[in-house]
Amino acid sequence: MKKLISGITALFLAMTMNAQQAPQLRADNIDEVIKAMTLEEKAQLLVGDGNDGFAGSGAMLGHQAKLVAGAAGQTVAIPRLGIPATVLTDGPGGVHINPTRKGTSQTFYATGFPVGTCLASTWNIDLMENVGKAIGNEALEYGCDVVLGPGLNIHRSPLCGRNFEYFSEDPFLTGAMGVAYTKGIQSQGVGVSAKHYAVNSQENERTRVDERLSQRALREIYLRGFEKTVRESDPWTLMSSYNKINGEYAQNSHGLLTDILRNDWGFKGIVMTDWIGLRADLPTYEQVINGNDLLTPGYPEQTKAIVQAVKEGKLDIKDVDRNVRNMLEYIVKTPAFRKYQFSNKPDLKAHAAITRQSSTEGMVLLKNDNNTLPIKNLKTVALFGVNSYDFSGGGLGSGAVNMPYVVDMVTGLNNVGVKTTKLLTDIYEKYVEYAKVKLKADKNPWMWFLDQGKPKLEEIEITRRCVEHEAPEADAAIITIGRQAGEGIDRMIEGEFNLTDDEKAMIERVSDVFRSQNKPVIVILNSGSVMETASWRDRADAILVAWQPGEEGGNSVADVLTGKENPSGHLTSTWPISAWDVPSTKGYPQGLGDGYEVAGVLYNGQMSGYNFTNHEEDIYVGYRYFDTFNKTVAYPFGYGLSYTTFAFGKPSVKSNGNKITVSVSIKNTGKVAGKQVAQVYVTAPKGAYEKPAKELKAFAKTRLLNPGETQTLTMTIAKRDLASFDEANSQWKVDAGNYIFKVGDNVENILGTATLKVSEYTEKVSNVLPLNVQFNKVKQ
Ligand code: BGC
Repeated sequence: MKKLISGITALFLAMTMNAQQAPQLRADNIDEVIKAMTLEEKAQLLVGDGNDGFAGSGAMLGHQAKLVAGAAGQTVAIPRLGIPATVLTDGPGGVHINPTRKGTSQTFYATGFPVGTCLASTWNIDLMENVGKAIGNEALEYGCDVVLGPGLNIHRSPLCGRNFEYFSEDPFLTGAMGVAYTKGIQSQGVGVSAKHYAVNSQENERTRVDERLSQRALREIYLRGFEKTVRESDPWTLMSSYNKINGEYAQNSHGLLTDILRNDWGFKGIVMTDWIGLRADLPTYEQVINGNDLLTPGYPEQTKAIVQAVKEGKLDIKDVDRNVRNMLEYIVKTPAFRKYQFSNKPDLKAHAAITRQSSTEGMVLLKNDNNTLPIKNLKTVALFGVNSYDFSGGGLGSGAVNMPYVVDMVTGLNNVGVKTTKLLTDIYEKYVEYAKVKLKADKNPWMWFLDQGKPKLEEIEITRRCVEHEAPEADAAIITIGRQAGEGIDRMIEGEFNLTDDEKAMIERVSDVFRSQNKPVIVILNSGSVMETASWRDRADAILVAWQPGEEGGNSVADVLTGKENPSGHLTSTWPISAWDVPSTKGYPQGLGDGYEVAGVLYNGQMSGYNFTNHEEDIYVGYRYFDTFNKTVAYPFGYGLSYTTFAFGKPSVKSNGNKITVSVSIKNTGKVAGKQVAQVYVTAPKGAYEKPAKELKAFAKTRLLNPGETQTLTMTIAKRDLASFDEANSQWKVDAGNYIFKVGDNVENILGTATLKVSEYTEKVSNVLPLNVQFNKVKQ
């Protein structure tokens, strides 16, 4: 007994001494802490703290309950050295955590902000930054350290299942929004994780597909948004993507993670992998060498593998120490390190006001024949389409937010004094209740990945008789067409990009009956991404893209329909006539049927055999293709109508060292107040290689201009932003010559031009990730 007591005393003494001797992490003693760390501790810090129910490999949605229930993951604490765990939570459309917790009746809902496409469609940088501030504040008050967003992947195809999380087909717009989002969040003292780095523009087979593309397309299209975000807003963290690029896994590419990211761009934060765990074909230690500081969600085998690789001499301790230093530099910035006393009570009311404003401003008016909208004196509407009653605020998967509510269209309209016809409302409300129960019964176990968020309910048949019954009681018909999409699965053309037969029949019947009674038909698109409109748009008098606008959706739509707010959103991707008009559709994994991958498991256990994508369109993504090759589209990039009219003055352009400024005045020439966007597209002179007809290089939005009011917008373009990527010499190059600055309100509607003579500029960069295979490029 005596022995035992003295043993315990000795152990206690050793522990106390150890605690006294071990340095405690501070911002200014990182070297000392690294010296004091054991190899095991270093390895632990480079591997995340696991996932609930983690099987060790495969794509997964982050879920952990150790510190904040429902967060995506956390880093490992090393209390001996005063290193706290830090919490990573999904975004980007808000803070993704569990709304309820065991043992308490308190709720932890997070504000449902608009999805990325909707936010970017505002073309309003200040508003984006404000949304970022609100998301950052919620993360902080819910005890999180990093929000896993912004999503900076390019809308290469309208079929990508996660387009709703991303901003645009244009890299400049993507970068500008990424910068604003990052600045907003990080102003609150929490970090972002810019993701998924890079070329992750499809979901099917996302963990193994090889994206084969030219260095030029990589640099100009897929990396530029990341580059801008890194250079201008210093994101604390960045997430490497699951896919391969030109044969190398992004998460194991030294070229991508070190040469480009750190050496060319000067990134100072940490790189984490996307949530995958062990990969059979990728040694853990290689990922450490190549520049992944944190392996997520983290698996004990990975920690062991790092230790073993150092012992076997495969992994240099210098590489480990470099990543450990990056981790510690990140950790000392976090609220966890500051011991921030979070309240678990963010101001959800104040944030609801911010989301309402941003969703209204992101909505895009596509069509408004004979000034159908706004409808003044609207008393009763017949509300068709299941999404009118079960409105979708956001997408599925890790990007979903557990929001406290979503205002549907009935509520939104009621809130502005508009009623809905009784019988129709009754039919749909009862159906929604039934369909939700049925959905549970029919749940496909393979689709567990899409459990996060609200799936779309199937439409019901609306007979002509039913429409005839409703029309006399209503002043107008509103049809909401809804779409849902999410992680792990891309969208199909039939029934997802295109309308279903039921939806077409509904529009046809409603349009026939209401128009024959001189009553307008308005279509609301409640979708996170681009849809087909050309085949049915003639049947609607007005079309409003509401996107998936977050929890205040129905209120925002009602504000626009009744004219309380004047729409000022503009498209951030081209709306093609047919999905097949987009060059990448040809090679896109459409109709993989049972073979596609859902959430890291093969759907029905079969291989699709689909393991690479040739980027035949090269740099001609989105409007760069349609505009350069004169192709007709349904609605061009940058397009959006207003309830007022604007006149653009003649633009002027000046250069000042390496900066170019473009100014243009915009006058509200209509009858109601409104905001307008100036979009500056630049046509470069001929150089040694081909260039798109024009490219977006700057934009700005006016304040709310009253009728007759004018504002002059001044925009700055860095000279290097005019550069194309000169593959032969691994450099950015601005060719000398006359540049034409074309200012308009969409890519097809140029309202004024100015020319500037620009001298040559070059900037050498790393020569990495070459394309090793040959394929034909799209020529027209
Ligand atoms: C997604 C990431 C997400 C992560 C954590 C992955 O499957 O691709 O976007 O941040 O899960 O939930």
